[in-house]
Amino acid sequence: MRPEYKPKAIRSYVIRAGRITAGQKAAFERWWPAYGLSLFDGTLDSVATFGREAPLVLEIGFGMGDSLLHMAEHEPEKNFVGIEVHPPGVGRLINGAGEAQLHNLKVYMADAMDVLEDCIPAATIDRLQIYFPDPWHKKKHHKRRIIQPEFIEAVKGKLVPGGVVHLATDWEEYAEAMLEVMTQAPGFTNMAAEGGFSPRPDYRPITKFERRGERLGHQVWDLLFQRDEQL
Ligand SMILES: C[S@@+](CC[C@H](N)C(=O)[O-])C[C@H]1O[C@@H](n2cnc3c(N)ncnc32)[C@H](O)[C@@H]1O
Repeated sequence: MRPEYKPKAIRSYVIRAGRITAGQKAAFERWWPAYGLSLFDGTLDSVATFGREAPLVLEIGFGMGDSLLHMAEHEPEKNFVGIEVHPPGVGRLINGAGEAQLHNLKVYMADAMDVLEDCIPAATIDRLQIYFPDPWHKKKHHKRRIIQPEFIEAVKGKLVPGGVVHLATDWEEYAEAMLEVMTQAPGFTNMAAEGGFSPRPDYRPITKFERRGERLGHQVWDLLFQRDEQL
């Protein structure tokens, strides 16, 4: 969580009150030592952390972690790092990872801004993914949206040349705002042949929530932007 020295920082999340169940507590005790990463660990050395050199995928705001778990299982040749502030989601993900005996997934329970700033070295992420970030519907709350020009500028330096930012949302007005931010961000190229939105890549599983939305006629917009080789 953002520490006291930046008391006025605008957060892209609210910590939802909610009790940790006995099962979640047990999951933490059992699996946190294997899967947990801390801000106090300092700079992430992914070769030392995962015991191998492999493309690195970073997901911000994985929620309950179902799609991140699916991806880590189905792309075993990649290393995955997830960041989430919501403890029940972290507990659920590490429990799933432990049961599946995954060795290619690690998790921060912290604010992604802090993790990016303090732990992620420059030019190390092959794919940064943010799926269904809080849309902050009201105009007065738009400043809380995570996809902002300053955030994307910070992310750019963390991507390897040719690395990809993958965003998805079901909120049309946020989708348009994301497209504007990404299109105007220097150093990125839209991977959609015609510009605009991309089809959902096969590696991103359709969530239950998305499937329900589809039946109700709701649309989902994916954005894929590649960091230029030369900045
Ligand atoms: C609307 S939920 C979507 C969750 C998930 N990606 C999905 O598709 O179901 C957004 C999540 O992002 C998390 N989040 C928002 N800002 C964050 C930040 N700065 N650092 C870490 N997690 C964040 C919230 O806690 C929340 O769980």
